[in-house]
Amino acid sequence: MERTCRNTDLGVKDINREVTILGWVSKRRNLGAILFIDLRDRSGIIQVVVNEGVEIPDIRNEYVIEVKGIVERRSNPNKQLKTGEIEVNASKITVINKAKTTPMIIADETDALEDTRLKYRYLDLRRPMMQRYFDIRDQIKITTHKYLHEHQFIEIETPMLCASSPEGAKEYLVPSRLHQGCFYALPQSPQMYKQLLMVAGFERYYQIARCFRDEDLRADRQPDFTQIDIETSFLTQDEFLTMMEGLIHDIFKNTIGYEVKLPLRQMPYKEAMDKYGSDKPDTRFDIHLHDLKELFYNSSFEGYRTAEAIKGIKVEGVANVTSRKVIDSLTLEAKKFSLGGLTVLKMEGEALTGSFMKFVSEEETAALIKEFDLHDNDILIIAAGPYNRVTPLLGALRNKYGKELGLIKPNTYDLLWVVDFPMFERDVENGQIVATHHPFTRPKDEDLKYLDTDPTKCISYAYDIVINGYEAGGGTLRIYDQDVQKKIFEILGLSDDEIKEKFGYFVDALQYGTPPHGGMAFGLDRLAMILGGTDNIRDVIAFPKNLAGVEPMSGAPTSVTKEQLDDLGIKFDEQK
Ligand code: AMO
Repeated sequence: MERTCRNTDLGVKDINREVTILGWVSKRRNLGAILFIDLRDRSGIIQVVVNEGVEIPDIRNEYVIEVKGIVERRSNPNKQLKTGEIEVNASKITVINKAKTTPMIIADETDALEDTRLKYRYLDLRRPMMQRYFDIRDQIKITTHKYLHEHQFIEIETPMLCASSPEGAKEYLVPSRLHQGCFYALPQSPQMYKQLLMVAGFERYYQIARCFRDEDLRADRQPDFTQIDIETSFLTQDEFLTMMEGLIHDIFKNTIGYEVKLPLRQMPYKEAMDKYGSDKPDTRFDIHLHDLKELFYNSSFEGYRTAEAIKGIKVEGVANVTSRKVIDSLTLEAKKFSLGGLTVLKMEGEALTGSFMKFVSEEETAALIKEFDLHDNDILIIAAGPYNRVTPLLGALRNKYGKELGLIKPNTYDLLWVVDFPMFERDVENGQIVATHHPFTRPKDEDLKYLDTDPTKCISYAYDIVINGYEAGGGTLRIYDQDVQKKIFEILGLSDDEIKEKFGYFVDALQYGTPPHGGMAFGLDRLAMILGGTDNIRDVIAFPKNLAGVEPMSGAPTSVTKEQLDDLGIKFDEQK
């Protein structure tokens, strides 16, 4: 077996050349005297024609075969194929290996259920479109290595078996055999290690880092994912963001040939929430949240008069399809955000209608029509209640309508930084103060004064890069002053003992000449997803978990033997 080239290396330049190619049978068409085979290899598909007189072994789809033959010009070129101008006229076909009938069609279009695709992932990954996702993913990494090395970064690996530390999500724990009763934790991110590398004087670190978070799964989340993790010393926020913009620019260019216009715009967190109801606004379409607090200051509806926030969005041209059922589903959505309900008003001709209109005065009606520039068949959705429930609800509804109404042009990219995040927020459930990013985030110098008075007023040096409504990465400048770090831990309610136990070594290290530093992490999977044009993160991960956290091919997580558990000194009350 001696392969002369890959399928798509061949072209018109090779006409009359004798070649030996190898690959999988993607399709066969038997036209009596002639047999056509679509032969697939990693590079793509080429047509093989087998004329009468050539011995044809038993060939079925997904058999691995070797074809010897001559490259010829095709009489009917296929513009869909890279090799569409030519074909290989076979003189000899050898079956290298057989294949069982596959449980799914190996082609871009497949009707297989996702769990079947994941169970036979090695077959699913044979589909050309899947291989393209991995080319994109690979190119992101190649570009990252090149760009960061050109900017004096050094790649350093940090441990996978770490000490447990409360960073946000739940951790995966790994029992220690040598120290029974003790556990390693898998890293949620290399956050503390990369800061220690700054203390160690490396100045510019990066790592394509595997991270693990035991959180509820979503279309853009995996428990086991990858970050492009970066940390730098001695840069201001703007210097750092400019450097990261260069990386993103090159990644877009090298993967999909798209020229990102720099510099990216920066939107304060408050504006993102006020106007788009999200800290990851998709600004590719023009539905905005309007503040109606003033308009309804004197409302006859008590709920409006007393609400912390009242906001509304206009959706154009949907009043005629906004049935009772649609309104009920919107109300259900409001309930998910812990709001009692919402108000839907319709513009019918010149008039604003809806059962709630009995609470709306003539002046308020006129003001609403003016504020939103309402026209026949528009609807107005108004929500009232706590700010941190009203804004995300309307943000979610704006995204829903943006998608449903096709307001987003395909193949458009919208990149921006969201900056100036609050340092702390209050947990919606229990009102406790928590760090918005993580406890190592540096408060803005001018806001340090609020740490002693009202910490929730404190803005931090934090930034997220948002692409098409996805949080594609985020980071912060870090605290390098040990007193400030201690104060933040205290505000978060950590006792001296807890600080010592969880972060003792880290707080200690800050005392040995810590440089001003900061960094960020890009979600590599999210970038691959955005650039690949899929909204399913599992498409860009070779062997992902399904939404139930199960990897259907290997069956992970699986039970283990009693011996394994005994070795680790683990005993369950009731073994499953
Ligand atoms: P953060 O938690 O914001 O920051 O994570 C950085 C980026 O990682 C991606 N990401 C995920 N991707 C897939 N599945 C997940 N479960 C998941 N969780 C996060 C997102 C996110 O923007 N150490 C800090 C970074 C820093 O401050 O330097 C960190 O991990 O794209």
